[in-house]
Amino acid sequence: MLKYPLMNILSIESSCDETAAAVIKNGQEILSNVVVSQIDIHSAYGGVVPEIAARSHIEVILPVVHQALQDAKVNWDNINAIAVTHTPGLLGSLLVGTLTARTLAIIQQKPLYAIHHLKSHIYANWLNSPITPTFPLIALVVSGGHTQLVAMDHHNDFNIIGSTRDDAVGEVFDKVAKILGLPYPGGPAIAKAALQGDPHRYPLPIPKLPNLEFSFSGLKTAVLRSVQDTLQVSIETPSSQLASQLSTQQVQDYAASFQYTVIKILIQKLRAAINQYPAKSIILAGGVSANQALRDAVQQNFATDFALHFPAPQFSTDNAAMVGAAAYFSIISGQAPSDPYTLDIAPRSPLF
Ligand code: KG4
Ligand code: ZN
Repeated sequence: MLKYPLMNILSIESSCDETAAAVIKNGQEILSNVVVSQIDIHSAYGGVVPEIAARSHIEVILPVVHQALQDAKVNWDNINAIAVTHTPGLLGSLLVGTLTARTLAIIQQKPLYAIHHLKSHIYANWLNSPITPTFPLIALVVSGGHTQLVAMDHHNDFNIIGSTRDDAVGEVFDKVAKILGLPYPGGPAIAKAALQGDPHRYPLPIPKLPNLEFSFSGLKTAVLRSVQDTLQVSIETPSSQLASQLSTQQVQDYAASFQYTVIKILIQKLRAAINQYPAKSIILAGGVSANQALRDAVQQNFATDFALHFPAPQFSTDNAAMVGAAAYFSIISGQAPSDPYTLDIAPRSPLF
């Protein structure tokens, strides 16, 4: 028996460097999912250049939306709502997706739903999955911009129980990759190099922070100092001059040691969270949740007592399918549509 109304949502995501659109049926079924990545453009600069990102979004957003409708084999009559990421993210990038969604909502006379990017990362766990997470749950959200522990008692209920004081996990993967001379984005590059490395060769410090708080900037500095020490150069030596002096084995050992330490921190905090909040399921979300070593560690530590959910790797990083999933569960939880004439963006917005 169908509990909720049948609903096809056209969703749009452009908060960082992926231009994406999808058509999602009832929050879970993927009718189409189109992602155009700008990684090749930004990797030349070693990171995302906001102005270039915004311009690239403008170039492809309409073809991407068109492709999503075409792949889903639906026309506008079959679309019940439009959803868009309006916060948080890069200002120019958010503007392109949000203005596109507003314009389409006005022209096609569809209700428009504004969605928080982190909510979408969490709801990636409901996509195409025969067994969906059960409540209460703890979500570990680890992306390029965020590191948060979120407790959920039911749909669309987000209690942020832990956050980072400084850098996000993904950001540190990217910065450490740069020190080691690995390409952007740093996460997948470090994960690959770590496969050949010794995680115990370079011991790195675990920050001592109260309760469920994270901090990663010290770890980044610890890698930098350790590399300078290994190479016996002064601490004034710029990080850009170090990688060329490291051997391949040293890079791989640093990658493995860094990844090992990050995972140790995440597991430690996840354990503290489940000791304080009731949970039946643990879910991972965000770009860093694509990391296989992290998935393995969560599996090893928590599989006996909890139902574990990881997004399919292509839904860990930015996409629009997850926006459609989040929008559906927001709508059935009572979220009101936004005014397409006035919906604003919010580049920074830590809370849901
Ligand atoms: O969620 P996401 O696509 O974008 C944001 O919302 O920030 O996350 C991107 C981040 C980048 O920092 C990237 O290095 C990291 O996710 N990432 C990974 C992996 N794949 C992507 N980090 C560790 N291991 C991976 N396999
Ligand atoms: Zn993201």
